[in-house]
Amino acid sequence: MKKRFLSVLLCASMAAVSLAACSSGASSSTATTAAPQTTSAQAETTAKAEETTAKTTEASGEKLVVGFAQIGQESGWRDAETLSIQTYASENGDKVELLFADAQQKQENQIKAIKNFIEQGVDVIGLAPVVETGWDQVFAEAKEAGIPIILLDRRADVSEDLYATFIGSDFIEEGKMAAKEMAKLLGDSGKIVELEGTVGASAATDRKTGFDDEIKASYPGIEIVASQTGDFTRAQGKEVMESFLKSNKDIKGVYAHNDDMALGAIEAIKEAGLKPGEDIKIVSIDGVRGIFEAMAAGEANCTVECNPLLGPLLFETAAKLKAGQSVDKWVKSVDGVFTADMAAKVLPDRKY
Ligand code: AHR
Repeated sequence: MKKRFLSVLLCASMAAVSLAACSSGASSSTATTAAPQTTSAQAETTAKAEETTAKTTEASGEKLVVGFAQIGQESGWRDAETLSIQTYASENGDKVELLFADAQQKQENQIKAIKNFIEQGVDVIGLAPVVETGWDQVFAEAKEAGIPIILLDRRADVSEDLYATFIGSDFIEEGKMAAKEMAKLLGDSGKIVELEGTVGASAATDRKTGFDDEIKASYPGIEIVASQTGDFTRAQGKEVMESFLKSNKDIKGVYAHNDDMALGAIEAIKEAGLKPGEDIKIVSIDGVRGIFEAMAAGEANCTVECNPLLGPLLFETAAKLKAGQSVDKWVKSVDGVFTADMAAKVLPDRKY
């Protein structure tokens, strides 16, 4: 009852943070692996999550209350993650309650949301940290209040005792996979440019490290001639690519830290009178529908899939934590590589 009353207060008090789904209806240090994105694996993950959340609700006699502080809506990938979380919550409204905050790309809004979740006494806090640093104090406050934190899809640079688990991909490995694909496409030589994600985000830092290190170590004929942030958005991906094209001659490839920026770059390349996918090869990360369409149209060459459908796993892990069970420190998503020749075949089955 107290939680319900406070939930109304939270909705009213967070003017700067857009909140949705504020009512139940609406809304060990080793690593385990999260299932890849086949339809049957996804259904299995959801069924397991429903079983675990049902057990926790039955044992405690109360719904599992999760507060989730989302980054914002910068990409198709993030929208898919949000939908996955909200869909699980609304389809399981008898077992779980979701308090959802959209921080509009601002760390200060995410911190505000976490503080409100603590005030409300939620069972578990979920967070996709917009940047890696600056979380120590608010995480310590959650720990003090006895509320575990689940890091979803991005890491935070804090000591391990301040969060319960990280659910997400190995971004360094994704960068390495992208580098190998780029090298294959270029026959191991040529000038390329890099569109980086949000400055300070683990997804951007690690995808750059993985890619750049692999190129340096294994492909001396490939030169990264320019690298700049496009903040994970299509609009900025396009803008930065326009300036890369003006100041660099003979670009043979674009590596984008996400598909949305790659899609922006494709527009810029076409407007410059060149053929994306042919004159300039495109390799990116995420696996959103738009890039599969571009690959099927011959305008992009490769994407490394990063699973955003993490809603069921978030709630399953939260239920385990509420029940006092131990969870692994890293629940690792399984990523895969998709090339243009596979696009038309897999497109109809893409879930996001
Ligand atoms: O943290 C995952 C990244 O964040 C996705 O690749 C990107 O599209 C999103 O915004």
